[in-house]
Amino acid sequence: MNGTQQETLRVALGERSYDIIVASGLIERAGTHIAPLLKRPRAVVITDENVAALYLERFVKSLEAANILTQTITLPAGEQTKSFAHLERLCEQLSELNVERSTTLIALGGGVIGDLVGFAAAVMLRGLAFIQVPTTLLAQVDSSVGGKTGINTRFGKNLVGAFYQPKLVLADVEVLETLEPRQLLAGYAEVVKYAFIDDAPFFAWLEENAPALLQGDRAKRRHAILTSCAAKARVVAQDEREAGKRALLNLGHTFGHALEAQTGYGEALLHGEGVAIGMAMAFALSHQLGLCPGQDATRAVAHMARVGLPTDLSALDTQAWHVDALMDHMSRDKKVEGGKVSFVLLRAIGQAFTTRDVDMASLRDMLERWLETKS
Ligand SMILES: NC(=O)c1ccc[n+]([C@@H]2O[C@H](COP(=O)([O-])OP(=O)(O)OC[C@H]3O[C@@H](n4cnc5c(N)ncnc54)[C@H](O)[C@@H]3O)[C@@H](O)[C@H]2O)c1
Repeated sequence: MNGTQQETLRVALGERSYDIIVASGLIERAGTHIAPLLKRPRAVVITDENVAALYLERFVKSLEAANILTQTITLPAGEQTKSFAHLERLCEQLSELNVERSTTLIALGGGVIGDLVGFAAAVMLRGLAFIQVPTTLLAQVDSSVGGKTGINTRFGKNLVGAFYQPKLVLADVEVLETLEPRQLLAGYAEVVKYAFIDDAPFFAWLEENAPALLQGDRAKRRHAILTSCAAKARVVAQDEREAGKRALLNLGHTFGHALEAQTGYGEALLHGEGVAIGMAMAFALSHQLGLCPGQDATRAVAHMARVGLPTDLSALDTQAWHVDALMDHMSRDKKVEGGKVSFVLLRAIGQAFTTRDVDMASLRDMLERWLETKS
């Protein structure tokens, strides 16, 4: 493996199939990958101000070199941009640019830009083609693949959206070099999630290679991103709209979302950090219920802690937290059906399964212990 190798994966969804390309230097070569896919050689690149400052000029140059008429829109960075207000403004800006049905939207940025632009593409003129160029690790291994798009409302995250697949995903491993270490680590939580779900050998690889990967080894980053995208692509190909198997990808999320809701979806707890703590809680609950050996739970949590991810509530101000509030957040999760909360639990590292049969008394017991001993 070397840093300039490229790998392509296919997400198999019939006529909505698309490639994910993971390589170094894709920002400069984007035009050659994108041009053949366009109905007309016209694109609008939508990004946020941080990514614009770092990559927009080079990216636009590459599209123009491939004779693509390119316009750009730069939005504020941050989760607040995934809102009705910004969606409205973005659609109006696209109208001002006179986009046509044949115009392609390109999301250049992290999960916030990808989710918002994907949703705008789904609704603008009843559907424009769109391409994902994810620039955070989280977006490269998770949010850019699989077609979930959307915005937040004042009632919660991602409550308005659409399943809408991109035409291509271009993940340039080099752009991760400007990412804040905390953001990189938060994305790594989603990488290790795939290992916990159904890939014990990948977990063993991560135990050995995570330090180098996190320090910047491009070949190891590419391998981890490809393995993660392949795992997600497999699941999405089998269950695009989350009727069954796709729910496994929510490992750590039922707990994580409750923690994020409790901390206000801000800097206090990034999404990936919430997922890391949530996965530690899923292992703890699985062990408490007699489903998962203690040694697997300990090994999983030790790995996350060793790389620097939070695995308990000690970094959070939990003084005013109450178990009822956490249980209330869980019961309002999008995945609740007939009042039953969906959990992803584990029989071992690499053996996750979904269940709606967690007894609420056991859950309360576990949460009480976490709030007492882990804070
Ligand atoms: N659609 C899905 O399936 C899915 C899955 C997981 C998460 N998400 C969503 O993704 C969002 C989080 O995404 P995120 O973590 O990428 O956050 P983000 O998009 O807010 O990016 C994090 C920060 O990094 C900056 N940034 C991006 N790329 C950079 C780079 N290469 N160098 C330097 N700075 C860079 C951004 O400007 C931002 O400040 C959440 O809204 C979450 O709901 C969606």
